[in-house]
Amino acid sequence: MTDVNYSDLRLITGDTPNEFTITIDGKEVLVSDSSNNIVDIAKSAGITIPAPCYLNKRKHGCCSACVVEINGKQHYACGTKPLAGMEVVVKRDDLVALRKERLLKYKDSIDRGVPLKCGSK
Ligand code: FES
Repeated sequence: MTDVNYSDLRLITGDTPNEFTITIDGKEVLVSDSSNNIVDIAKSAGITIPAPCYLNKRKHGCCSACVVEINGKQHYACGTKPLAGMEVVVKRDDLVALRKERLLKYKDSIDRGVPLKCGSK
């Protein structure tokens, strides 16, 4: 029986043990740093997920506008780390409408000076 040299598998798959793929809107995306969240991983693949509070270090509370669907359930992309095989949906009419609604609510909260609480959907 031949011993398997796992370093040779990298030559075959192109992956290192710390790399894996997820799917975003049907596009396979290689993840090489699993400490990044879905917002940053999508951005690296040219896919934009609105994330104003994350990008502004939650200065005005939490927007909830980064909502995406992951494996059939809604999640906040800014608070979700990637796992191998995840299937993320960003561009779908109902999700786009939900993000738009939440962005407007977030903008209104800033205009009123009342930060939105984090963790509310
Ligand atoms: S970017 Fe605001 S909750 Fe995720």
